[in-house]
Amino acid sequence: MKIRVEENYRQMSCEAARIIAGEILRNPNLVLGLPTGNTPKCMYEKLANLCKEGVVDFSQVVTFNLDEYYDLPFDHEKSFHRYMEEKFFSRVNILPQNTYIPNGMTDSVERECKNYDRKISEQGGIDLIVLGIGPNGHIGFNEPGTRWDSATRLVELTEKTITREFDRSQNHPRKALTMGIKNIMRARKVLLLASGEKKAEIVDRTINGPISNDVPSTILQLHPDLRMILDEGAAGKARG
Ligand code: F6R
Repeated sequence: MKIRVEENYRQMSCEAARIIAGEILRNPNLVLGLPTGNTPKCMYEKLANLCKEGVVDFSQVVTFNLDEYYDLPFDHEKSFHRYMEEKFFSRVNILPQNTYIPNGMTDSVERECKNYDRKISEQGGIDLIVLGIGPNGHIGFNEPGTRWDSATRLVELTEKTITREFDRSQNHPRKALTMGIKNIMRARKVLLLASGEKKAEIVDRTINGPISNDVPSTILQLHPDLRMILDEGAAGKARG
């Protein structure tokens, strides 16, 4: 595990974008796993700039998103389809047919999840997966209690995860489709990003805590090629 601490969110994002761009320069056909959420927003901005400047070319890159809410229309403001389109895909030269996101509007969850795992295999597996982390240690939407051998599937979101994202008075999704821990652990490289004091405790548990399904991110201790990029806030409680 390599841990790098950057002074602030912006620098953490620059470093993440730099690593991803470097991987694409080495391998233009890179298969990239991608998160949504607040953490990677600036990273996507930096990557879009690097693309605009001609530093990095996404024309042969393939992406697989970690997750998507179940039964939430693609054009909903909280949909990860919409997030990816607005924040990233529309701003780089990636081909739409090379971008995969679980289809939360599917009429057959089982078929959708199997197909998603099959498509990942057909692309030769994920080369580099970028992760954010939930305050409860979820990676993707693998909430506490997730089995280590889980693949893409429909999951129930915890109350806390729902209230972080949705106003309780609104109609909101309670489930999501997510890649499983097995998909994440099979990625050849993992890049985990965390920013802000709110993440300090879970970052410490992820690095130093016992490996336990109660904190899904702790399994990453066993990944042979894990890099964490933290800002000072998120690194504040990590011992050692
Ligand atoms: C989203 C995802 C989640 C987030 C996590 C952190 O695709 O997979 O695991 O990475 O909930 O979210 P933020 O970055 O909003 O703190």
